[in-house]
Amino acid sequence: MTIKKILTLPDPILRKKSSNVVDVDNDLRQLMDDMLQTMYDAPGIGLAAIQIGVPKRVVVMDLAKNDEKKNPMYFINPEIIWKSEEKSSYEEGCLSIPNQFAKIERAEKCNVKYLDYNGNKKKIEATGLLSTCLQHEIDHLNGILFIDYLSKLKKDNIIKKVVKSKKELERVVV
Ligand code: NI
Repeated sequence: MTIKKILTLPDPILRKKSSNVVDVDNDLRQLMDDMLQTMYDAPGIGLAAIQIGVPKRVVVMDLAKNDEKKNPMYFINPEIIWKSEEKSSYEEGCLSIPNQFAKIERAEKCNVKYLDYNGNKKKIEATGLLSTCLQHEIDHLNGILFIDYLSKLKKDNIIKKVVKSKKELERVVV
């Protein structure tokens, strides 16, 4: 397993729409293993393949708390087939938008169909944090970021902060 570089704002690749996976083979499983390792290392609770520059509809997630046993989840070609009218809000962050958080309202429940690690068809009824994470990650596959739900002012402000801290970091490295 390899830890990959996570792309951050304003990398235009993050805005690309990812393509469906055709074959769930060992190469794809290798990609998912690398994604999981990269996510744990970051650390984060969800990662879409596009965040490491691979435009495939693949998401990994692990919502286990620090003191709980690891619970890796893999979603290939995930598709929301139903969303509840009721909403819930979470303070969201994103590994591609480091150190920035905003309260985002999303459907409290959603049903998602997908293929699992072995390519089997699955369906999940998600609520709460899992529902929010799935919607956040599936957005990534469509080139959408959580800041897109904010006012232009708040969005521009976050982009500016991320770009500025990246420049400062580069200066230290150089
Ligand atoms: Ni994200």
